[in-house]
Amino acid sequence: MSTTLPAPASTTVRTPSKRTVLMCRPDYFTVSYRINPWMHPEAPTDTSLAVRQWETLYQTYLDLGFDVHLIDPVEGLPDMVYAANGGFIIDNIAYGASFTYAERQPEGPAYMDWFRSNGFDVRVPENVNEGEGDFLLVGDVILAGTGFRTATNSHEELARIYGREVVTLELVNPSFYHLDTAIALLDPQPGFENPNIAYLPSAFSEASLAILRERFPDALLVNEEDAAVLGLNSFSDGYNIVIASRATDFGRQLRERGYNPIGVDLSELLLGGGGVKCCTLELRR
Ligand code: ARG
Repeated sequence: MSTTLPAPASTTVRTPSKRTVLMCRPDYFTVSYRINPWMHPEAPTDTSLAVRQWETLYQTYLDLGFDVHLIDPVEGLPDMVYAANGGFIIDNIAYGASFTYAERQPEGPAYMDWFRSNGFDVRVPENVNEGEGDFLLVGDVILAGTGFRTATNSHEELARIYGREVVTLELVNPSFYHLDTAIALLDPQPGFENPNIAYLPSAFSEASLAILRERFPDALLVNEEDAAVLGLNSFSDGYNIVIASRATDFGRQLRERGYNPIGVDLSELLLGGGGVKCCTLELRR
């Protein structure tokens, strides 16, 4: 008697692609105001530990062969380390950020200055948006979050600027206030067929969940424990996926699908409500 078993999913060959990113060393990181439920200004933070943990992420990217650019941190802008919020870039066009809260508003121009000096075609935003924190390029489509930070009129602005389909997704849990805390892109390679994602179902409204289920029937669903350490806030090159080391079940699911999860500990930056992806802005020339 012989039975033919399907090949285990882990034999899927995943091919990494080189990423180009922008980061900001957390030299001035602290928690001095509260704009999300993770932040407790009354509790102490350790800036030197934040820097050491960030250095580990930086080195991990260098070891993966990424091209990592750095923007100078600005004193008095403790959240500037979360570079993902600094803008959104496709085809060398940089759509600037316009922050919801006054505390972060000066970051918008600071990042736009960097984009300009580095040869990007900068579009000054007309509407409130927090960059790649709420925008995710998946294949040819831009998934766009709203509910806590980014306004839906910026989704329309984005569609006009890039001439791409923009899919609005509504976030409903204040702990998962940016799209990149609730969705992870697994296959970022340009032209990749059927790129897959991972997400936390409870972070989305019923209508948005229905869109995700329809568009991504094979998505990985991440549990509440892993989401609660911002496990979804990860960065993939198509094979290697840098995730929070404490997101163990997410790591297991990734290995099962043939990806290579690499855990890093950014516990200090989690005190500001950010993780791996928040510290990473993709530069697409
Ligand atoms: N303290 C920052 C804020 O609340 C954290 C930003 C995290 N960034 C992200 N891309 N999710 O705005």
